[in-house]
Amino acid sequence: MNNAVNIEWGKLGFSYIKTDYRYISRWKDGSWDNGKLIEDNNLTISEGSTCLHYGQQCFEGLKAYCTKEGKIQLFRPDQNAKRMIQSCRRIFMPEVPKEKFIDACVQVVKANEAWVPPYGTGATLYLRPFVIGVGDNIGVSPAREYIFSVFCIPVGPYFKGGMSPIDFSVSEYDRAAPKGTGAAKVGGNYAASLYPHEKAREEGFADCVYLDPSTHTKIEEVGAANFFGITKDNKFVTPISDSILPSITKYSLLHVAKEYLGLEVEERDVYIDNLDEFAEAGACGTAAVISPIGSITYKGKKHIFHSLTEVGPITRKLYETLVGIQIGDIKAPSGWILEVK
Ligand code: PLP
Ligand code: COI
Repeated sequence: MNNAVNIEWGKLGFSYIKTDYRYISRWKDGSWDNGKLIEDNNLTISEGSTCLHYGQQCFEGLKAYCTKEGKIQLFRPDQNAKRMIQSCRRIFMPEVPKEKFIDACVQVVKANEAWVPPYGTGATLYLRPFVIGVGDNIGVSPAREYIFSVFCIPVGPYFKGGMSPIDFSVSEYDRAAPKGTGAAKVGGNYAASLYPHEKAREEGFADCVYLDPSTHTKIEEVGAANFFGITKDNKFVTPISDSILPSITKYSLLHVAKEYLGLEVEERDVYIDNLDEFAEAGACGTAAVISPIGSITYKGKKHIFHSLTEVGPITRKLYETLVGIQIGDIKAPSGWILEVK
């Protein structure tokens, strides 16, 4: 039975909803089993699991979209597969092969087809693949058993209001260290962000900007999203750093800005003291899509970008083009779309 018919798609936020099926596969003695779909959304694992004590876990986030013709498609799942391999390597877990990762995502989407939000609702199906170290352990060493799982949830906007400008503060804390795990999608980075996030919320901001952990002068991340700015002479600029999560949305936007909108693009340092160079700014990510940044407050001074209430013209164009590609209204670059059949 599915309850999907009861969902008001247009009213969805970003909250957990139990869908019908999830994929699970186990690794032991050097190999992954074939994996299967299950209905139970509870995991039973050893109290000694390394994911519980030493943060040996990583995850991914990607979305399935419904096109005007009713087809279901994934956006660049190969890139998420690739990044999960890098995350697994960084914290010494067995890699999930690309084919297995994509197959698991496809199985989960197909099994939960009724939960894929229809075209035109603005909602999408968010997939959450993850790998955890499990089994009986106690010393600080890699687990000898692992679980790879994928579940899915229909979602609406990550930041309240979706495509309306939001306000950020700048955190005094770091989410990652130089040469640490900032570029890997591991739970520890997110645990480190919970307190600064909550503090920002208490102060009335949607979330906070993280600066580079070495000098605290350059923008790294915007909450759980990457930063981009549009300079006054219309360049698309996004920060470069080893401790930023390499956002698939950000790399897609670099391509969209250049090839679809004809903008100059730059991946380079973005100084928090030089926000005046930007006419518009935004946060980008799978969950965040493109969330326009209305303002960034740093050392008590509120820097306003295009407007606190209106979306800048280039940010809007980027959003329309990216989402148009994802939902099949605009022709995608080769290899970006995988139809789920
Ligand atoms: N930065 C952080 C810290 C994130 O959690 C995410 C979300 O995945 C992103 C950036 C955006 O990455 P992507 O566009 O691949 O979703
Ligand atoms: C994503 O955009 O997929 C993220 O992982 C962000 C957040 C929900 C953790």
